[in-house]
Amino acid sequence: MIVLGIESSCDETAAALVEDGRKICSSVVASQVDRHRVFGGVVPEIASRLHSEAIVGVVREALDQGGRALREVGAIAVTYAPGLIGALLVGVNFAKGLALSSGLPLVPVHHLRGHVASNYLTSPGLEPPFLCLVVSGGHSHIVQVEDYTRLRVLGRTRDDAAGEAFDKAARAMGIPYPGGVELDKIAETGDETAYKLPKPKVAGAPLDYSFSGLKTAVVNLLHNAGQKGQPVDVPALCASYRRAVVDSLADTFLKAADQTGARKLAVAGGVSANRLLRRELAKRCHATGRELYLPDLPLCGDNAAMIASQGYYEFLAGNRAGSSLNACAQRSIEA
Ligand code: KG4
Ligand code: ZN
Repeated sequence: MIVLGIESSCDETAAALVEDGRKICSSVVASQVDRHRVFGGVVPEIASRLHSEAIVGVVREALDQGGRALREVGAIAVTYAPGLIGALLVGVNFAKGLALSSGLPLVPVHHLRGHVASNYLTSPGLEPPFLCLVVSGGHSHIVQVEDYTRLRVLGRTRDDAAGEAFDKAARAMGIPYPGGVELDKIAETGDETAYKLPKPKVAGAPLDYSFSGLKTAVVNLLHNAGQKGQPVDVPALCASYRRAVVDSLADTFLKAADQTGARKLAVAGGVSANRLLRRELAKRCHATGRELYLPDLPLCGDNAAMIASQGYYEFLAGNRAGSSLNACAQRSIEA
């Protein structure tokens, strides 16, 4: 069955056709990043307006590129949560209208479940159960994927998400938005042992994350250097900071794997594109005889193929939305 996926939760308008949850027929992503860069971050109202302008063309292009007519589609899957409410509403309302006019079933998809499903597209052999590190701009979760539609959160961030931590530190260093991507590139050329940064820990919650102290340490370091007129080695600071964040992500994720006995590990969300995170987890999984699944780079960021993939499994589980479907800014991946 072919599912049409629609995604508009943040600053990417996307549509895709995916067959049986695994094979991408088409995937179209219209990024707004150039329009938000001047503001140093996503401006919600501008995002909503740009989604409205783009969505019809993006869905049409996904159908054209996939060489399918709407009557060959079996269901419409749409991201309904979490994200920017005005942005989500554009996709949700468009999908509702399309479902109503075509008579196709409408399937609501949680954005983070979609990120997890990006691994089903990259690795056709991957099936639950597995443990997934979900690291995006707004969330950092360690998730037990018990089944395609049964997920349990074992650990989460207490403050900043991993992507947010990268973006905020990058911003403090004067690196333009979206900073996380750029920081990762610059870090490749720096000495990661040059700056000593704290090791984040959450007392009494060994599977939780905390990144705000690390970010503050970088801000203070820059401030002190500025006051004393001392130069900052930006590539080395990027590299040291990336090392600290990645070690924290990997240490805790592997601890969760030890505790649960998981042998299959996956990573999902925008930060899964991070070069050091990919290398570090590959090294540690190899050393402990675990299987590691990583999404292909074009599937790490927001896209609609992952929504169509998860939508297929939600459809099989009987999940449907009616004309009263609403968008939710916040909702647990477990719900
Ligand atoms: O999943 P995503 O595309 O959007 C959300 O659902 O939030 O994640 C975006 C986040 C941003 O914070 C971005 O800076 C971060 O992912 N990101 C990276 C890298 N690529 C994207 N962070 C570190 N290294 C990267 N290579
Ligand atoms: Zn995302």
